[in-house]
Formats: sequence, structure tokens, C-alpha cells
Amino acid sequence: MLNDASSQQAPLPFPDRPVLFFGGKGGVGKTTMAAVAALDMAARGRRTLLVSTDPAHSTGDVLQAKLGDRPRQVAEGCWAMEVDPEREADRYIEAVKSRVESAAPPRLLGEVYRQIDIARVSPGAVESALFDRFTRILEDEGDAYDRIVFDTAPTGQTLRLLSLPELMTTWIGGLIKRRRKVGALSQMWKNVAGSEATDLDNDPLLRALEERRDRFQEARRILTDPRRTAFVFVVIPERLPIWETEKAVEALSKHDVPVGAIVVNLVLPERDGGAGEDPFLAARRERQAVYLARISQSLGDWPVLRVALQDSDPVGVDALGRIPVLDTAVLDTTEEVVR
Ligand SMILES: Nc1ncnc2c1ncn2[C@@H]1O[C@H](COP(=O)(O)OP(=O)(O)OP(=O)(O)O)[C@@H](O)[C@H]1O
Ligand SMILES: [Mg+2]
Repeated sequence: MLNDASSQQAPLPFPDRPVLFFGGKGGVGKTTMAAVAALDMAARGRRTLLVSTDPAHSTGDVLQAKLGDRPRQVAEGCWAMEVDPEREADRYIEAVKSRVESAAPPRLLGEVYRQIDIARVSPGAVESALFDRFTRILEDEGDAYDRIVFDTAPTGQTLRLLSLPELMTTWIGGLIKRRRKVGALSQMWKNVAGSEATDLDNDPLLRALEERRDRFQEARRILTDPRRTAFVFVVIPERLPIWETEKAVEALSKHDVPVGAIVVNLVLPERDGGAGEDPFLAARRERQAVYLARISQSLGDWPVLRVALQDSDPVGVDALGRIPVLDTAVLDTTEEVVR
């Protein structure tokens, strides 16, 4: 499913795309909406995998299920897993060290390890390890599922993550060039000196770099393909989250990541409050109408789905299943969608 590249055709409606990312400001309901969407798609007969990257295990809490590093079934047709970003970074560093161990001269190993340990704590290390894991999930699980839903971290971090494929391919491309140059020089030297030639095709570091580059390039192809990927922004009808979402949508477009929809969560349910309505609630409702109008105006190029504020926290498969966030019938028939 994920590997049928057909980017020449028109974009698909976002619920039909196999890879969905849910993002947005902290606490706006990303985890809840990603879980609702995953369960909704599973209920429509799509084999769905929900992937969370939140170390606080909130997906497990929301689904009321114990989740781990491997997919676990949580409902009919729906699996979920939690990826711990820090552990991914540690794992990645260990993998790099063991690759280097076989390639670097033993007397240099201590220094090389020190450099790798510095890389572990430098900015972007956790995100790039996480991205590496995302691409492996797409590769390994892509064929087993019709949909993969990623519940991502708050906006800033997500944006950095999504811009990584671009940065990474350039950076790795540079490293590969350097490695080839060093390899070619040492080969020349060895030819002159009469010792056996180094075999660049079997250079473990070069191979590792090239594999990584190819993986990031493929991930970038998936991420920017409007027939395969949609980024769904969750926002609430308040000033700052709207402003932040407008900025984020702009940034994603710059990286050619297709935005699929805007989910406006925590919308006060429509009521005819009448004369007896609590003045506080009436005022909130009025404020909200202003913000909803602003969302339609600035983000109305995408389907805008509204999700009502529930009277209690939506947790557990049953409660989540009652929230129709991706209902495609809703998409074309009701007021819930402002397009
Ligand atoms: N429509 C809703 N009605 C009532 N409560 C909601 C609704 N959506 C989410 N919540 C509640 O709001 C809180 C925050 O939701 P959630 O954890 O999904 O947000 P988040 O964006 O994933 O947060 P974080 O940025 O920390 O990951 C939770 O307690 C959740 O149960
Ligand atoms: Mg969350």
C-alpha cells in the first residue's frame, strides 16, 4: 500500500492516504484525535497502526491499554505502539558505535566514541533517531497495514522532524563524498606503495551512510506525496494555538509536506442558550465564534473538522469510537465542515 508511488495523479482525500501525521500545539488533543482517527479507520475495515512518540505513554492511557515498542492489537483492525525517542537515540548511537568498531583503526576508537557520544547530546540527535525509526516503521510495517497514524510531538519538534529528510540527505551526501575521497586517496597511496587496494564497495561506513541516505530519500518521497501522506493539524478555537497553527501550516508547505485537514477540537457544543444562558458561557461562545470564523478564513483551504468538547475525558476504545472525527459523510454533508 505504502509503496505504490503514483504521485502523478491528483491528491487523495486525506482519510484515504495511508500515512497520517497528527500534530499541533501542546495539550490541544493530538493524542486523543489520533486515537479517534485510528479507531475510526479500523472500524471502516482498514487495518490501522497507531504510533505514538510520547515518552509519557499518553496513547496507552487514552486507549486504556498497555503498549510497548511493538504493535499490539487494541481493537478490531487496530494496533498501537509507543516509541520512546530517548531510547531510540541511545539505540541508534549503539548501532553507529558497533559499525564504527569494525571500520576504524583500534587506536582511534576511543576518540571516535567520544565524538559519537557528543553527537548523542547535540541538538537534533533525538529527532533524527526518531525519524530513522519512523522510516523503519514505514518500511517494515507499511505492507502489513492500510493506514499508519503517527501521533507526533508538539509543533516545533514535529516541524524539525519533518524537515530532517531534506537536511539529512544533504548532510549524508556530503559525508559520502568525503568518505569516497579519503577512500580513493588511500587506494592511490596503496597502489603506489604496492600494498593491496581498499575495496570501496565493501567499505562498511560508506555502505551504512548510503543505506541511510537511501532510507531518508524514500521517506522524503513518502512524506511529500499527497497521495500517500497527510499532516492533520489539531487546533483549539483560541488565539495562540490558531496563530501557531497558521505558522506551522506555512512551514510545512515550504517543505512540501501536504496538509490534509484541520481538526478544531474542544468546540463548545451548539446550544440554544436562550435568555437563561449563563453569561460566562454565552461570552465564551461568542469568542469562539470569532475564532472559528478566523480558522475558516485563514485555514479554510483544507477541510476543517470540528470536534465538540465532551462532558468528560474521552478515554477507552468505546468513548473514543463515539467521536466521529474523520467521518467522510460529515465531510460533505453537515455544517461541521467549513470548506
Ligand atoms: N473533545 C474533547 N473533549 C473533552 N476532553 C478532551 C477532548 N479532546 C481531548 N480532551 C482531553 O484533553 C486532554 C489533552 O488531550 P491530549 O492528551 O489528547 O492532548 P495532546 O495534544 O496529545 O497533548 P500533548 O501535547 O501533551 O501530547 C486530555 O485530558 C484529553 O482527555
Ligand atoms: Mg499527546
